[in-house]
Amino acid sequence: MFVLLKEDIRNVMAKDPAARSVMDVLTYPGLHAIIFHRIAHRLWNRKRYFLARAISQLSRFLTHIEIHPGATIGRRCFIDHGDGVVIGETAVVGDDVLMYHQVTLGGTTLSKGKRHPTIGNGVMIGMGAAILGPISVGDRCRIGSNAVVNKDIPSDCTVVGIPGRIVKRNGESVTTQIVMDNDINRVDPQDNTIREMRQRIEMLEQHNEKLEELIQRIEEHERHPHCWSVSIEES
Ligand SMILES: CC(C)(COP(=O)(O)OP(=O)(O)OC[C@H]1O[C@@H](n2cnc3c(N)ncnc32)[C@H](O)[C@@H]1OP(=O)(O)O)[C@@H](O)C(=O)NCCC(=O)NCCS
Repeated sequence: MFVLLKEDIRNVMAKDPAARSVMDVLTYPGLHAIIFHRIAHRLWNRKRYFLARAISQLSRFLTHIEIHPGATIGRRCFIDHGDGVVIGETAVVGDDVLMYHQVTLGGTTLSKGKRHPTIGNGVMIGMGAAILGPISVGDRCRIGSNAVVNKDIPSDCTVVGIPGRIVKRNGESVTTQIVMDNDINRVDPQDNTIREMRQRIEMLEQHNEKLEELIQRIEEHERHPHCWSVSIEES
């Protein structure tokens, strides 16, 4: 327990520029919530459900961070600020995860079983982000503040928006075409590809109108070959 605590404190000092000293870090609600969770989780695994729940609710009352005692949280998880964080029962959080206030690792179904996300190692989850359903977020991903992620994300991606779209992969910006091909991205009316397709459809419609006009003229010519004065080439 103390080894883990020392590790946590060192981790907070490294990840929070505002942390000036160990005493500072000891006041962090994110740290308190993790300590409470470790105790609650052990009790949960020993089937002491009521006690585990009671500790988790006490932690929630004191820190405003709600971690279900059944959730699995890896080492050196740092919840910065913390207020409003909710982590569901079947969520799995890897090592070295950093998350900010109002993050939700939630479910999308009322059925029992795995219904919360699995977060890889070294993931950063921005404030207000919601990661929903039994999906996986790959190692070292960065989830933008207020993003809503409801599809699997491969490793080393940056995801922003609602629904979450991959905007960077391995540090490189993702082009529109790749964004459309990616598992997470669905057709988005704002997307450039849609706009390009609309433009092409409009162009094709214009061509079609011209062709219909041309066909009408040819038919007219066939009916009255001598009265027709405008050549087809002109049109
Ligand atoms: C997502 C995030 C990690 C991206 O950081 P980054 O790798 O530096 O990426 P960029 O800033 O180059 O952004 C890439 C694109 O995503 C957009 N973007 C970034 N963050 C966004 C967000 N939260 N929501 C919507 N779009 C976002 C940018 O505008 C940019 O779009 P563009 O290419 O069309 O200009 C960062 O913006 C973020 O949200 N961090 C969370 C920080 C936080 O919660 N802090 C709380 C402190 S208390």
